[in-house]
Amino acid sequence: MVLVGSVVSPVIKFGNAVQLCHLHLFPFHLSSDMSSWYDHPQYFDMVFRDETAAEVRFFEQAFSRLGNGKFRRLLEPGCGSGRLVAEMAAKGYELSGVDLSQPMLDYLDRRLRRRGLSAELYCKDMTSMQFEQVFDAAFCTFNTFRHLTDEESALKHLRNVASLLRPGGLYILGLHLIPLDADPECTERWKAKHGGTTVHVTLKVIDFDRKTRREMLRVSVKAEKKSGKVERIRSEFPLRIYTPAQAKKLLTKVRDFFEIAGVYDFDYDIDEEREFDNDLTDALFVLKRR
Ligand SMILES: C[S@@+](CC[C@H](N)C(=O)[O-])C[C@H]1O[C@@H](n2cnc3c(N)ncnc32)[C@H](O)[C@@H]1O
Repeated sequence: MVLVGSVVSPVIKFGNAVQLCHLHLFPFHLSSDMSSWYDHPQYFDMVFRDETAAEVRFFEQAFSRLGNGKFRRLLEPGCGSGRLVAEMAAKGYELSGVDLSQPMLDYLDRRLRRRGLSAELYCKDMTSMQFEQVFDAAFCTFNTFRHLTDEESALKHLRNVASLLRPGGLYILGLHLIPLDADPECTERWKAKHGGTTVHVTLKVIDFDRKTRREMLRVSVKAEKKSGKVERIRSEFPLRIYTPAQAKKLLTKVRDFFEIAGVYDFDYDIDEEREFDNDLTDALFVLKRR
């Protein structure tokens, strides 16, 4: 569910989302001068929870097919509201979640307690995480990686994760890539319902610059509660743009630490490996620590 686009299709139905162009990125960051929707974890979570089961299934398949050894200790940089942390903890893994947003972490803490689960949560930057023990795997999907808006921080993050993984461990990284013919004039809308609340989300690319490799997203949320109360949130944030070639170049720079064990897409189908070519727009990389 997100935006920017290629010229592929004028209107595509994607889950609950009506895309006005080809599926593209994924959103979100802390906006400086507006209420961030990361300050509203309950709405964020409603909008993305449908994807969780497929991701969790994929992670476990990747551990057994592409990793070496036993997978027990897991890390999620940019864990947000913790839909994945909670599901993996429920499966018996030991989880650590890192995020810059305290409201997200507070929401996740409540969620874990409510379900009688536990995980270690840290309000930290995902480019400089420090732990005493190593992890068997880490995962970072839904474009979170694209919040790192320059090459230096992207590389710092990849090296940081590599330093926290044991050899044979995996890093599962999901992000949208921009096709060569991307049409930046794109809006995407969808809605999600849960517990009497309906959330309408509109995502719009308001600035797109291939040179600086940044795009600015605006996310507008309208939440209608059962009581009739309506809440509106609008936030804007930058994301780094990656073409498939730029993503390949970046991963080449960390090849001393990571080999690419598999390339997939947001279908999360372990039996359907993808070519790492210009047609890859929703990339799911399985990186293996050397
Ligand atoms: C798109 S949300 C994804 C949340 C979660 N990974 C999921 O899939 O549901 C991105 C999250 O990354 C966090 N984030 C952005 N930049 C970060 C950074 N430099 N360090 C740690 N967390 C960051 C945001 O606060 C937000 O919660």
